[in-house]
Amino acid sequence: MAEKIQIGVLGSGTMGNGIAQIAATQGHDVIIVDNNEEALVNASKKLQKIFTRLVEKKRMTTEEMQASISRTTYTTDFESLSNSKLIIEAIVEDLNVKQQVFEKLENIVSEDCILATNTSSLSVTAVASGCKKDSRVLGIHFFNPAPLMPLVEIVPGLATDEQTLQNAKQIIDSWGKTVVIAKDTPGFIVNRIARPFYGESIRILEEGVADVATIDWALKEYGFRMGPFELMDLIGNDVNYKVTCSVFAAFFYDQRYKPSFTQQRLVEARRYGRKSGHGYYSYAENAQKPEAKQDKELAEQIMMRVVCMIINEAVDAVFLQIASAADIDLAMTKGVNYPKGPIAWAQEMGLEKVLDYLQNLYEEYGEDRYRPSPLLRRMVKNNQNFD
Ligand SMILES: NC(=O)c1ccc[n+]([C@@H]2O[C@H](COP(=O)([O-])OP(=O)(O)OC[C@H]3O[C@@H](n4cnc5c(N)ncnc54)[C@H](O)[C@@H]3O)[C@@H](O)[C@H]2O)c1
Repeated sequence: MAEKIQIGVLGSGTMGNGIAQIAATQGHDVIIVDNNEEALVNASKKLQKIFTRLVEKKRMTTEEMQASISRTTYTTDFESLSNSKLIIEAIVEDLNVKQQVFEKLENIVSEDCILATNTSSLSVTAVASGCKKDSRVLGIHFFNPAPLMPLVEIVPGLATDEQTLQNAKQIIDSWGKTVVIAKDTPGFIVNRIARPFYGESIRILEEGVADVATIDWALKEYGFRMGPFELMDLIGNDVNYKVTCSVFAAFFYDQRYKPSFTQQRLVEARRYGRKSGHGYYSYAENAQKPEAKQDKELAEQIMMRVVCMIINEAVDAVFLQIASAADIDLAMTKGVNYPKGPIAWAQEMGLEKVLDYLQNLYEEYGEDRYRPSPLLRRMVKNNQNFD
């Protein structure tokens, strides 16, 4: 059981409430603050419902449920965070609002309180920049649903000190999470390396190489739990498109991350996916799911193109010291359930084969999108491996 410090959670939405559930289950007193009274009432009811279901499923006892609920406080009063030793912010994804809230927090909490942001797409350094003591601010990035997803990316900002990083890591480790450390760069690890899973699949579709159902089938044949189009329909094409656009802009418009017209048009047509009843697939009651063309050769071709692009991203992330090769593989297997870590996959395929494949794409298309990572070139040239 983790040391019972008081944990503050800012924002009682999807992520904040999930994080509060974890912390309360781990025996911490948890103060959940939101500026919206109704959001707090809903979040508190939702947590009760989740705990009740866990009791029904015998995943926790009634006593544990009652103790966890009694440890949580839902309030609009920011001052009640004064005794918290770690505050995890999960409010609206808006830099100005986050900066203001962090400045406000600093006047309330004690000197040794760690301030963390759960941002997915903003710079941790920018969020911290308004703080007097920016060395105590870092990113603690959970995945949705937070209580179920094992991965947490910890992201030190430019000013974060080593002690803050180690203390935060120790707390999240003690919650049984798989922690990886990522550099403060767009998309951190998972949202950066996963881009080609969507982007390259859309490209394959746009070129008419295969249809949506066939691409989904092909990648599932190679162990992905869901196909890219099924997954985008589940996440919401509006959400996925927004992430793609923000990563593209954050990379100073590097062509590798360029969004697609296909996705833009779907969003314009409000084909958000499951939640709107239509995305790449129709979810109408009588809708017939299109049949995949189950051609093994085509499946291999699709897999090679998508996986080599993912590997290229992963190798480039190692090259640019975004994270270690081991953390990248952990992140992609635990955060998004990839069948293999991209670095391990590269080793298995052979780095030379991956480089050859990318080099051919690069020559054929003449697009920067396909440029092989310098590290991949260097390793092949020097006959090196990752292990
Ligand atoms: N939803 C995801 O899949 C996901 C995954 C990882 C990270 N994130 C990040 O987590 C954060 C929260 O996302 P979410 O999906 O839980 O959002 P959400 O909209 O479900 O919840 C946000 C909550 O913050 C509250 N809020 C807004 N401004 C506030 C303020 N100034 N002070 C106090 N409370 C305020 C809102 O009332 C709302 O209850 C964002 O930074 C997001 O990028 C989201």
